[in-house]
Amino acid sequence: MLYIGVDLGTSAVKLLLMDEEGKIRNIVSKEYPLFFPHPGWSEQRPQDWFEQSMEGIRELTEECDKEEVAGISFGGQMHGLVALDKDDNVIRPAILWNDGRTGEETDYLNRVIGKERLSAYTANIAFAGFTAPKILWMKKHEPENFGKISKIMLPKDYLAYKLSGSFCTDVSDASGMLLMDVKNRCWSEEMLDICGITKAQLPALHESYEVVGTLRPGIAEELGLPKSVKVIAGAGDNAAAAVGTGTVGEGRCNISLGTSGTIFISSKKFGVDEHNALHSFAHADGNYHLMGCMLSAAACNKWWSEEILKSKDFAAEQSGITRLGENHVFYLPYLMGERSPHNNPDARAMFIGMSMDTTREDMTQAVLEGVTFGLRDSLEVARSIGIQIERTKICGGGAKSPLWKKIIANVMNMNVDVIESEEGPALGAAMLAAVGCKAYPDVETIAKKLVKVVDTVEPDSELVAKYEERYQKFRRIYPTVKELY
Ligand code: XUL
Repeated sequence: MLYIGVDLGTSAVKLLLMDEEGKIRNIVSKEYPLFFPHPGWSEQRPQDWFEQSMEGIRELTEECDKEEVAGISFGGQMHGLVALDKDDNVIRPAILWNDGRTGEETDYLNRVIGKERLSAYTANIAFAGFTAPKILWMKKHEPENFGKISKIMLPKDYLAYKLSGSFCTDVSDASGMLLMDVKNRCWSEEMLDICGITKAQLPALHESYEVVGTLRPGIAEELGLPKSVKVIAGAGDNAAAAVGTGTVGEGRCNISLGTSGTIFISSKKFGVDEHNALHSFAHADGNYHLMGCMLSAAACNKWWSEEILKSKDFAAEQSGITRLGENHVFYLPYLMGERSPHNNPDARAMFIGMSMDTTREDMTQAVLEGVTFGLRDSLEVARSIGIQIERTKICGGGAKSPLWKKIIANVMNMNVDVIESEEGPALGAAMLAAVGCKAYPDVETIAKKLVKVVDTVEPDSELVAKYEERYQKFRRIYPTVKELY
């Protein structure tokens, strides 16, 4: 049988067709626009996600025996607020995960409601990108729109709803709404009260591998697929990527270098760090995870190469970089503000330390290093609560760069295990579909069977020492410049 994984990303939707043995039969990608209507705001049109996904599914399945398609599932950009009215019309463009407009609402939640209460209700504190502050923003700034809300959902849930008619979400993605009691995997009554919404406006909660319905007959006909195709809840893109890289069960780590950058640590036990610097979320394998998220990771490199250097050839830009650990230039990667661990939507990017002999390569290297140091900040929080990690998987566009993997191995002092396919979320989503269709008994079993490590980048002790010194300097920059933002 065949399974479709849909990774609903920020710049494009990526669709992947996988067979029961885990062989990837086809991959298709379809782009859609991203809007920045004000500095720091970030929006997309849910209709674009749906249209491009439909187009993508048609293209993905063009050559295969359509009768063999058994299930479809999703990995979606997290936290986005999608609001529908009583007739299922999208009320306003979706407000995305990297949108920084909710500074005031975030402050209100963290200071007036208080971090302790938020953490007790949801296992997390408020970050500007989370969904609850966006709901409060809409209530204050767009009361008419707020009054029309009949359904609140996350980006990938909009796709599931359009495809199956099932108003549902999964626990990993719902964790990032700041409306869910993560430990008990249910909605938090207190948070619904605080946001002025009701349970009827929220989707039904499922585990990521659960079947939520089948294709609507009209959709099945449009796609030429059987009506029996099962729709499986899916996961937030990071949890889906973790499934796709085999980061399931106890104490495994995955680094994702996409538009955002995340460090994801799976755990069988529920837990939170003292300052809630890391997100404590439910995992798609039925367990939990801790995660640090930076808002601009590979996006920094893309911005630097494409917008500033006017070059799309990332590999060529990196080819002249030879002096690892010896760069004098630092880069702060906060192009869209920062989530973990600083929680500051007003932070901005910065280069520091150039001299007359600084080269283009030094600047490019500083970007790759700055992003990696930013991720290390989250790793340090995990280390501070006694989590010991010796190796990590890696996925996302940035994982294509051998140089970046080497920098990560040495900055983090960890082995970086490279897997056969870096298609994290799309592959993970297809794997969740396979579990939902009972091709495998559970997520851990399919991950063990299908995910193969093909190479390991090991840290080198001399470089680790050089990078340790550099990182200790890097960590002093943000506190020094923070007052300027
Ligand atoms: C995670 C987060 C991002 C988005 C990117 O908390 O906000 O990784 O999910 O799509």
